Amino acid sequence: LRSVGIIGTGKYVPEKVLTNADLEKMVDTNDEWIVSRTGIRERHIAAPEQATSDLAYEAAVRALKSAGLAAEDLDLIIVATITPDMAFPSTACILQDKLGAKKAAAFDLSAACSGFVYSMAAANGFIQTGMYRNALVIGADTLSRITDYTDRNTCVLFGDGAGAVVLGEVPEGRGFLSFDLGAEGAGGVQLNLPAGGSRLPASEATVAERKHYLYMNGREVFKFAVRVMENATEEVLRKAGKSKEDIDLFVPHQANIRIIQSAMQRLNLSEEKCVINVDRYANTSAASIPLALVEAAEEGRMKEGDTLLLVGFGGGLTWGASVLVW
Ligand code: ACO
Repeated sequence: LRSVGIIGTGKYVPEKVLTNADLEKMVDTNDEWIVSRTGIRERHIAAPEQATSDLAYEAAVRALKSAGLAAEDLDLIIVATITPDMAFPSTACILQDKLGAKKAAAFDLSAACSGFVYSMAAANGFIQTGMYRNALVIGADTLSRITDYTDRNTCVLFGDGAGAVVLGEVPEGRGFLSFDLGAEGAGGVQLNLPAGGSRLPASEATVAERKHYLYMNGREVFKFAVRVMENATEEVLRKAGKSKEDIDLFVPHQANIRIIQSAMQRLNLSEEKCVINVDRYANTSAASIPLALVEAAEEGRMKEGDTLLLVGFGGGLTWGASVLVW
């Protein structure tokens, strides 16, 4: 099997910033509550004319440039998202057209905040076996479109963005060492978008009942997150033949600083070894891990040969983790 790794990175967040002070004017909340409970200070919000494929496009162009590839060199595009432009065609197909990636197969992958790691695992399989050479994997979400800005329980938590990587063959000993993916479908009731699908199509009633907004049982998701962050981390390290001490950089899903801190404590990791940007972007769902990864790369925080651990959790409920050598 071929060794597969990240050969290009790019990210994009929309210009508009929504601060905690802005939210204080919209719902009964305050900066102190939001910062102490979540670590979030501000988030980026898409412009009215921007859809998920537009955010994905900006990140993709940067990732292709950093890989030194043209869109025509792509064999595969996977977009991890739970806020596609529309139910179909897939956001990946819309993006394929925008990029002019004529040779590429294209599909979306739905695993909420775990979607980026799931998508990298899928692309890794295609390249490892030799079916494809170059894959573009993007985590992109516009959660602001499914966020109820009258509900203080959820509206403070989310932001918009996109992070992209190009995967390709790398020298042996580098790239992905292991993946650990999982799902607990029974927990799907804790975090979902109730209406707009085939179960509950859009109607005047679903609009009146505010069922086109994300529903979340925060406490249950919190408990799930803390549990699977630990289990998935241990499992993915075991599969890679690595130990906690081998981790040079920890790239967790950016949902809540308290979840990240509890994971860091259990791994005995110092802050320098952990990427944290939840304060500036909030929870961007599938974009969260790639935004953290790409930002760390742009800041020069990893060097060739470093061992990275990526881990996320989200709707499904799902989790996904990976160990890779940079
Ligand atoms: N401002 C002020 N008060 C608030 C706010 C707010 N924005 N939101 C909630 N509160 C209140 C609640 O009403 C509650 O009041 P009550 O006790 O009078 O009912 C009180 O604060 C405490 O609420 P808790 O739920 O106990 O707060 P908690 O400390 O659990 O934090 C939070 C809530 C931040 C949502 C936390 O549970 C969490 O982070 N959960 C995980 C969320 C997550 O990771 N989601 C992933 C989504 S992934 C995806 O797929 C999109």
